[in-house]
Amino acid sequence: MSASLDDRPRRTFAVISHPDAGKSTLTEALALHARVISEAGAVHGKGGRRGTVSDWMEMERARGISITSAALQFEYAGHVVNLVDTPGHADFSEDTYRVLSAVDSAVMLVDAAKGLEPQTLKLFQVCAHRGIPVLTVINKWDRPGLDPFELMDSIEQQIGMRPTPLTWPVGIAGDFHGVLDRRTGGMIRYTRTAGGSTRAPEEHLGVDAAAAEHGADWAEAAEAHELLSADGADHDQELFLAGVTTPVIFGSALLNFGVAQLLDRLIELAPPPGPSETVDGGIREVDDDFCALVFKVQSGMDAAHRDRLAYARVCSGTFERGMVVTHAATGRPVATKYAQAVFGRERSSVDVARPGDIIGLVNASALRVGDTIHTGAPVQLPPIASFAPEHFVTASVSDASRWKQFRKGIEQLDQEGVVQVLRSEARGDHAPVLAAVGPMQFEVAAARLEAEFRAPLRLEPLDYNVARAVDDDQVAEVQQLRGVEVLRRSDGTHLALFPDRWRAEAVERMHPHLRLGSLVAGRG
Ligand code: G4P
Repeated sequence: MSASLDDRPRRTFAVISHPDAGKSTLTEALALHARVISEAGAVHGKGGRRGTVSDWMEMERARGISITSAALQFEYAGHVVNLVDTPGHADFSEDTYRVLSAVDSAVMLVDAAKGLEPQTLKLFQVCAHRGIPVLTVINKWDRPGLDPFELMDSIEQQIGMRPTPLTWPVGIAGDFHGVLDRRTGGMIRYTRTAGGSTRAPEEHLGVDAAAAEHGADWAEAAEAHELLSADGADHDQELFLAGVTTPVIFGSALLNFGVAQLLDRLIELAPPPGPSETVDGGIREVDDDFCALVFKVQSGMDAAHRDRLAYARVCSGTFERGMVVTHAATGRPVATKYAQAVFGRERSSVDVARPGDIIGLVNASALRVGDTIHTGAPVQLPPIASFAPEHFVTASVSDASRWKQFRKGIEQLDQEGVVQVLRSEARGDHAPVLAAVGPMQFEVAAARLEAEFRAPLRLEPLDYNVARAVDDDQVAEVQQLRGVEVLRRSDGTHLALFPDRWRAEAVERMHPHLRLGSLVAGRG
């Protein structure tokens, strides 16, 4: 990040996509269109190409997924844009949800040929659930794909957001010439440029020229445009900001088409950082004293930097490296001498950060996900909700001499939110229950305990699939129920585990006085 105090307007967003939909390619293309502010913009990627995802773990490399989260900061059209990385797999939906608490909007990236894939629908639903504005990009339009109307239908049916296309393809997927810009009525034509141009290969054509040069394809796009308008599928800024509609653009990240359009629309339509609500119902304006929300904690990112990073999004005020901030949960001071911008493997010092920016605080070991840091009078931002886990295993160390490391490692993973750790007196300390939204979280936990703590894990699946939160005063009663086990999460929440939804619903029906929460509230 630039060392100068920079008060240009911010846009902070995340890209949500299925693995392979083209998130890395898009990120790379975005960075090419923009001036990357941070030295960290020189990013590394998978498969040897210049890429963008962090690849700090063997598992990530092998599976081509990104589990870490960090932010890429760049400059575009007089704005500072923060792109916060998200994991690309539904098993890490909870992580995605946390990242979404750090952004003001999201870009939903859909593969034109695959549409909405069932296994990743959850990620997109998480996006809709957060209620933040979502822009949709239909990617890979240079390849054969689904009918655009079919894609619009599935977004509306399966995600529950109404698509309002800003552009419409001229020519079918795989044989496209460009898009009809629904705001101007003209055409943005794709032009192939020789070898690796970094700017958008786009050319603007008026209606007459488009009709003359792209006859039938243009007529079809113009008809679709009218149909959409007749159907009320036009952009409405208020409905977009409320998360009711999602503007859609069509493009090809690989061919660098639609990327400038996306950036322009992000600048124009996506909201800037706004005031934050606080737990006591107050409002924190962006120009109040400094406060930030910790949305991610991570350690052991790579061998060269074996330390722990707490990522925080600045919500109000100005952050200056070196200032002492207060940890709201404990009232204790936190030093910020080592504040960094992190993307992929690259790190650089952050000197100044504004609302919307992401800072990585090194070795701030007291900070947990959902915590607030601030200067001035005490303030607490709302905690980040955690998901009801659906997969449960018991974890024990397979080499008894590594017990201490095992215990330390489990505590670390719990604090980072890699898995939720559940305990009970009956089960004791030697085999805590690990709970996850997706089973791949267990693989991450096991791989990290082995690599970082040399404590190989033995995981044994438990026959539970549903969790409900139980109020403290009803724990004893729920514990008596047949086929139900109550465990305590490290944030103090009690969870009742049921073998299946049917059993949980039966208990709710038969004992209506029990207060069983379905989405478990986060630490508070
Ligand atoms: P991800 O981060 O979402 O997992 O996806 P990534 O960008 O790695 O893209 C997955 C594959 O899709 C890559 O091909 C990439 O080149 C391709 N791709 C991305 N955007 C487009 C596009 O707009 N059009 C076309 N035709 N392809 C696109 P790969 O063969 O798996 O990897 P690579 O060897 O090309 O890197």
